[in-house]
Amino acid sequence: MGSINLDLSASVSRLPAPGETVTGATLERFPGGKGANQALAARRLGADVTMIGCVGADAAAEEALALLRAGGVELSRLITHETAATGIALIAVAPSGENHIVVAPGANAKLEASDVDLPNADALICQLEIPAATIADVAARFDGLFVINLAPAREVAESVLKRADVIVVNEVEAEWYGDKLAACAGMIVTTYGKDGAVLFKAGERVASAKAPVVEAIDTTGAGDTFTAALTIALLENKIPEDALRFACAAGAAATTKRGAQPSLPSRDEVDVLP
Ligand code: RIB
Repeated sequence: MGSINLDLSASVSRLPAPGETVTGATLERFPGGKGANQALAARRLGADVTMIGCVGADAAAEEALALLRAGGVELSRLITHETAATGIALIAVAPSGENHIVVAPGANAKLEASDVDLPNADALICQLEIPAATIADVAARFDGLFVINLAPAREVAESVLKRADVIVVNEVEAEWYGDKLAACAGMIVTTYGKDGAVLFKAGERVASAKAPVVEAIDTTGAGDTFTAALTIALLENKIPEDALRFACAAGAAATTKRGAQPSLPSRDEVDVLP
């Protein structure tokens, strides 16, 4: 459950500083949104996936949904808002693969708890580009493996942190939440980009994994892929080291092509990485 965006992605020679204009970019349009990226990543890695989210009644919605549809993600529970626009992300990508992202959430901000018709599922993955109140309500209703990627960092109900079986944060988000993460009795996984990831439980470091070395072209969607892959690995009862290794490999594979969703790897593409 989460955001569905159309990404307007500009490849730039370098990321602009505040107040600076960088010209000479090449613009591409890709389906994106953290929720949709995580749904499609899980699907490409072999799961049956239902996407819950909200789009506008506009042309951007069809563009944003195109790869979910083509990939076989179940879309019958999506909400179409009559007046809000489909979410748009403005992305600048540097040659190193690093990015800046600005999101105009539009219809994503209109997803109400009462709109959410939860299917029977082994796992629910959420992020924070939809209303926090909707996440809190749905987390309380769901009784399977509840995974939350606390991205982008913002206030979230303590009940959500307590309910989470797995929290995924990058190092910036981990610092933003600080001691609040201690409310989670489950696993807390911190990602460190090309330096891999660490899994903590009850404040103890339980496992760590390195990311395979790849040539990163665009890191957009790498964290989303990591979250989806980790969820699948845990559902497959992989031990923590193996689950982290699989998630790091999937995240690394997602950086090797342009765009969020076009780069989401298949299971075979992940399995060949060390
Ligand atoms: O995590 C990457 C995603 O963040 C992009 O696809 C963009 O839509 C934003 O939601």
